[in-house]
Amino acid sequence: MKEHVRNEVRRLGEGIIGTEEFMRAYDETHHKATSVAKHSEDVACTSLRITRFLEKFGVDVDHEILVNAALCHDLGMLDRDDKFDDDKVCHREHPIHSVDVAKNIIDDYNDTVHDAIVNHMWPIAGSMPKSKEGKIITFADKYCALKDVRHIMRLYAALVLLRFGIILP
Ligand SMILES: [Fe+2]
Ligand SMILES: [Fe+2]
Repeated sequence: MKEHVRNEVRRLGEGIIGTEEFMRAYDETHHKATSVAKHSEDVACTSLRITRFLEKFGVDVDHEILVNAALCHDLGMLDRDDKFDDDKVCHREHPIHSVDVAKNIIDDYNDTVHDAIVNHMWPIAGSMPKSKEGKIITFADKYCALKDVRHIMRLYAALVLLRFGIILP
């Protein structure tokens, strides 16, 4: 990810990144290959890059709302093993828990932030986001999740090829 985009996320999301909740998210594994915090930073960066592209066509996006909602969208996954019975319940309910965390740590929590966080799992859970910011985050989240699991798929493929004797150790 380009360094200037990361710097922009750090600047706009300063109030979130420094919180205890976000720090704890570095220790919460996500997609088996990353952490909730790193994934959330990736989603914020990807959302900003999509926004820059859309702005060339005159689309107006609130960068601060976008970054803060992206950084908080999965914080409801903290302590997931204690909160959710299984992955299915977690997929469905973590956005609601993320809203609870976000309300405590985003100073200007508003309807757009709420829409973006509570509906980011669409179409698996929730409704299609109404806001531009919500739609961008929902798309960026899927894109980043696929990127995260790509590494697992590569490892799995290598193990299968190794097991079949097609590649040598
Ligand atoms: Fe999520
Ligand atoms: Fe996510």
